[in-house]
This record gives sequence, structure tokens and C-alpha cells, in this order.
Amino acid sequence: MHADFTGIAYLVAAICFIMALRGLSSPETARRGNAIGIAGMVIAIATTLADPGVVSFELIAAGVVIGGAIGTLIALRIQMTALPQLVAAFHSLVGLAAVAVATAAFYAPEAYGIGVVGDIKTASLIEMAIGTAVGAVTFTGSVVAFAKLQGLVSGAPLVFRGQHPLNAGLGLVLVALVVWLCLAEAPAAYWLIVILSLALGFLIIVPIGGADMPVVISMLNSYSGWAACGIGFTLSNTLLIITGALVGSSGAILSYIMCRGMNRSFFSVILGGFGVEGGQAAAANGDRHVKAGSAEDAAFVLKNASRVIVVPGYGMAVAQAQHALREMCDTLKGQGIDIAYAIHPVAGRMPGHMNVLLAEASVPYDEVFELEDINNEFATADVAYVIGANDVTNPAAKTDSESPIFGMPILEVEKASTVLFVKRSLASGYAGVDNVLFYRDNTMMLFDDAKKMTEEIVQSL
Ligand code: TAP
Repeated sequence: MHADFTGIAYLVAAICFIMALRGLSSPETARRGNAIGIAGMVIAIATTLADPGVVSFELIAAGVVIGGAIGTLIALRIQMTALPQLVAAFHSLVGLAAVAVATAAFYAPEAYGIGVVGDIKTASLIEMAIGTAVGAVTFTGSVVAFAKLQGLVSGAPLVFRGQHPLNAGLGLVLVALVVWLCLAEAPAAYWLIVILSLALGFLIIVPIGGADMPVVISMLNSYSGWAACGIGFTLSNTLLIITGALVGSSGAILSYIMCRGMNRSFFSVILGGFGVEGGQAAAANGDRHVKAGSAEDAAFVLKNASRVIVVPGYGMAVAQAQHALREMCDTLKGQGIDIAYAIHPVAGRMPGHMNVLLAEASVPYDEVFELEDINNEFATADVAYVIGANDVTNPAAKTDSESPIFGMPILEVEKASTVLFVKRSLASGYAGVDNVLFYRDNTMMLFDDAKKMTEEIVQSL
């Protein structure tokens, strides 16, 4: 009877998680999706606590209170731009938890109903080995990703000769250790799997540039899901299996979407060595002419437009300029000017980064368009207001086959009559490449912090 109830409750929770993912796929439904996800998690936790196998509510309560307090504090304090490293830090804990559960199951198999010490079921040993290996890779990989993004270590790719053969060789040794564990159930094999996987997580992530970390984090997210899935098998917990698989597959799909948005193969990301973080001065500007303008100049151009397309990018997130931007657009709309926002799939540093910021500033959803829905309209726009975006507008992606961003679809802002570029300097963006648009006749550079410049334009308007 109890098992039936648990099965049904877990099924309801699993459906909630699927609906939550569905909801999170669009800004309009994201809040509802989040609420459904929370409901599913409450059902899952309550059902698990009602299990007669639970022996100590005190320890669980202590964990929930301490963990919940830390989580709440971090969530309240975290800056939007620091979210990628926070996600990396959280994933490291999922990996560690997978290792801890597998270790507990290895030393106390009776408690999990998978045999006795020295005679654990082979299937359980395989699940345990995979769960531990994936968990340990996720742990060290996520710690390195966190350290790079937080600036604790250099974000530059750490590349050395023979790196890929070394990783491949260690991977083969890992497979051999799993076979040894399954045949002999030796604790030495188990701990060697843990140590080798920790080393592999480190080695796989160090050659990847800090700038490629969003893809890596989403990949580690996927790994942490598969680790949880493996542990679900060890614990015979169907909900953990389903949830782990959902996290695993959605993380993998997200990595794929990001790679496609940059027109890079997943393997080129994993093999590393691309990208800079923080931007560099554009190389060899020569004596190319740059037309710089003031807030008043920009206000004049905007006031005389009938259609303005706004292109937000990473710099808007850094400056937290979304509220000032909405105010500027409201003022323009009040003067009868048509406004649309164009979102590139990899603008910013996270999928949906720009959508979240615009939603936070209450920008109406029907004014926000995806690249393929708006790209043709730049030709009929009077002004493209590019705020903190750079790479996602760079025509080198279409014209320069040597460029690291060659092949990436871009927003064709240069087709607008005037392009206003709000950024602090001529520095490059994430990909470290110069943008020829800065030197075009129909471009006016507005050199300042995105929020400050936009606020000044509002005043001038
Ligand atoms: P970027 O090309 O990185 O350019 C951002 C620009 O913002 C910089 O050139 C910088 O110029 C400017 N900026 C920084 N702080 C600013 C501030 N406070 N005020 C005004 N401007 C500021 O950004 P993007 O166009 O959004 O392109 C995103 C890049 O990230 C792409 O190359 C993409 O492939 C990569 N990427 C994205 C993702 C996802 S999922 N979104 C994942 C991985 C990689 P100044 O220093 O001159 O101000």
C-alpha cells in the first residue's frame, strides 16, 4: 500500500518537473514553470520523508535548515552576472553527493538492499562505479569552472603537449578499473576510480578558456544529472532516475543549442583553447576613423526615427542597464516611435540571459524578437541601438573565414540607417575579435557605461 502511494506521488512529482521544464522554455510561462517545479519538489521531499526507512528526522531537519539558510542567503545576494559560477559551484555539490551516496552503498550495501559486503549485485556495482566516476568528474570539473569564472585562477586555456592522448589513456584505465571492481569488488578499485575520476575532471576542464565556460557548465549540469540518475538506480529510487535523466538530457540539449548559436562544434569546445574573458583592446586600429557622439547627439537621432530596434548584449548585463533602457524606450514610444528588441541566441553569457533581464525590467514580451524573426527588419529600421553587444553584430562572422566567429549567425544591425553602439571603448567582446562596424560611416559610438549613457539619453529626450 505504502509502495503504491510512493509510486503515484513520485509520478505526480515527475510530471511536475516535466511541466516545469516546459514552462521554463519561454519567458511568459517561466514563473508558472518555476512554481510547478517547486510544487513537484515539495511532493518529492514529503513523499521521501514519509518512507518508513527514514531513521533520523533530526539529521534531515538539520540538513534542510543549514542548507536552506545558506542557499537562501546566496540566492538573495548573488549578482546576475555571477550566476554562471554559482551554478558551477552548485553542480560540484551534486557531483560530491553522488560520490558520497555511492561510497555509502559500497560499504553498507544491506541498507540499500543490494547485497552484503563482499557480495554486492553486479548490476549495482556497475551503477555505483558509473555514478561515482561521473560524480567525481563533475565535482573537480565544476570546481575548476567556478575558479576560472570567479577569477580565482586565470581563465586562459591551460594547454600542454600530449593532453588529449593523456586524457584518452586515463579514460581507458578508468574502464579497466570499473571491470576490476565488478569482478573482484575490491575497495582499492573503488578508490582508484574515485581518484582517477577526480583527476580527469580537472584535466578535462583546465584546457577550456574561461569564455567557453557557459557551454562547459551546461555540460557539467548534464553530467550531474546523469550522476544523480546512476545513484537513483543504486537507491532504487524511480524519481531520482527520472529527475536525473531530465537534468542530464536538458543540460545536453542546452549545450547543443549554445554551440549551434556560436556555430561551433561541441568537440571544438571540449578540446578547448578558445576565447578570452574581459575583452582586449582591438588590435591594429590603424588610422581608421571612429565617429563618437554624446547623449544629446543620440537623443536627437532617436527622436527623429520612426522605428528603433534595440540589440542588448553582455555589456547591458554588466551595467544593469535594463531599467534605464526600458525607460528610454517608453519615452520613445510616447513620442510615437516604434520599438522592437532583437535577441541573439548567445547574447550575454547564458541562454536566455537577455530575456531574463528585459523581463525583470517589465519589457512587454510582444516587443521582444528572436534573431530569425527580426533580422530582415533592420533594413527598414532608422536606428539600431546596440547596448553592450559586440560579437553578435560582427559582420566578420559572415565575411572573414579566418575569424573565430566565422559562421555564427549575426544580427544585421549595419543595415539600419544609423547604428548607435553603446560601450565603453573599442575593446573586443568575448571572442576577442575587432568589430569593423565601429568604423562605418553609419555608426555612432557612444563611449560610456551602458546604464549611465542610457540615463543621460533619457534626460536629453
Ligand atoms: P560581447 O561580444 O562579449 O561584447 C560585450 C561588450 O560589452 C564588450 O565589447 C564590452 O565593450 C561591452 N561592455 C562591457 N561592460 C560594459 C558596460 N558596463 N557598459 C557598456 N558596455 C559594456 O557580448 P555579446 O555581443 O552579447 O556576445 C556574446 C558573446 O558571448 C558571443 O561571442 C557568444 O558566442 C559568447 N557566449 C555566449 C553564451 C551564451 S549562452 N549567451 C555562451 C558562451 C559564449 P567595452 O569593454 O568597450 O565596454
